[in-house]
Amino acid sequence: MTRHFWRQDLHPEPPRGWLNDPNGLAWFGGSYHVFFQYCPGAADGSGPKCWGHWESPDLVHWTFTGAPLQPGGPHDKGDAYSGSAIEEKGLLWLYYTGNYKAPGPYDYIHAGREHNTLRVAFDGRACVGEKQLLLSNADYPADCTLHVRDPKVWRGADGVWRMVLGARSLRDTGRVLLYHSPDGARWTLNRVLEKPGFGYMWECPDCFELDGRWYLSASPQGLPHGETRFQNVYQSGYFALDGAPETGELQDFFEWDMGFDFYAPQTFLAPDGRRLLLAWMAMPDAEYQNPTAALGWQHCLTLPREVWADGAGRLCQRPARELDALCGDFGALPAALNGPARLQGRAGQDGELCVGGLRLRFAPDAGMFVMDFTDGSGAGRGVRRAPVDKGPLDFDLWVDRSGAEIYLNGGRTVLSTRFYPPEGPLPLTARGLRAQYAPLRPMEVTERAPLF
Ligand code: FRU
Repeated sequence: MTRHFWRQDLHPEPPRGWLNDPNGLAWFGGSYHVFFQYCPGAADGSGPKCWGHWESPDLVHWTFTGAPLQPGGPHDKGDAYSGSAIEEKGLLWLYYTGNYKAPGPYDYIHAGREHNTLRVAFDGRACVGEKQLLLSNADYPADCTLHVRDPKVWRGADGVWRMVLGARSLRDTGRVLLYHSPDGARWTLNRVLEKPGFGYMWECPDCFELDGRWYLSASPQGLPHGETRFQNVYQSGYFALDGAPETGELQDFFEWDMGFDFYAPQTFLAPDGRRLLLAWMAMPDAEYQNPTAALGWQHCLTLPREVWADGAGRLCQRPARELDALCGDFGALPAALNGPARLQGRAGQDGELCVGGLRLRFAPDAGMFVMDFTDGSGAGRGVRRAPVDKGPLDFDLWVDRSGAEIYLNGGRTVLSTRFYPPEGPLPLTARGLRAQYAPLRPMEVTERAPLF
């Protein structure tokens, strides 16, 4: 069977069905494990959600192994929703949300829903042992709605296990619940982190230390949209904390990615200590389309990215350096792209780069970068504006078969988008900027006969 020309070469994408959030990201047993929210049987995401799974030794070679975590137990009757993973005693413990919606005339916010926090062990190939119920709705603070989900678990240097959960309060305020545990099984609430007026629900929280400062990442819903901020239906970003998670206050919120398609990121540590990030390269409830849905699959993850701190409370990103192995030699820009490519350059004045219908406009004097489409390949995507520092604007653009990520000014600002160009070479035009081109080789993806 020939590969469809919209099949991504560098972005993890399931062989069939629907993907959403990255889950359970971990280095374990000598490889990376990347789980994800998966509906194998329904490309529109309408089926029960399980956890799909890839394994990779190096972020370049990937094996899809199927869907080792399935819902259907007493506490995850409907779906195995998002969560994280942590190694303990030779096993990878998967922490996740058991979702259930009871049939009936419910609003599923205040009634008719269960969000249980569960864990189960994974031995590198399959889930082993019982699913353990850790917390259920009755255990969360009384002023939470039934929306409490997406556990991210880590162990502190002090040996204390910590977990953040995303939640919606009865006053419709997004918040994060911080729990402590001596052993990963018994959890007590330590603190509620919130910023009243900043959205009604915070999904997929993450909390990590980078260069001596703590950060809280979350995906808030319900922020008012602006011209150059919060342009998507929902947002994903991070707050620096001015102290430890137990005591620090939330500082300014910065968006991880200013493009059309980025949501629910999760970070984890590479064995060499780098903090890596993957996100869902899509936007839930957006007005724009993803025409692969009609072909039997929908959505992918972003490139694996490295995250580092700039020292002033801002985080920077770049594609994980392992992906540099896929990059050929740089040379002059061709008239058209015949496959995935990396374009690097600098705009010292107003300039424009068009890759097929994807138009990237650089306005360094105005301190602005604009992404839009000159044809229908954006499938309904309009325009995204990203303020940047005034002055020459550096870029590193990674173009895949139906998506692109652009890293501006050393990764201080990033924009990601899906786009669906017609089959064939993609015309390339550049005006007012210096740029060079290198071809990108595809990642190698194999599919192991699923065990499940
Ligand atoms: C974010 C999210 C999570 C939830 C999962 C369900 O995209 O809504 O909050 O656990 O997706 O698939």
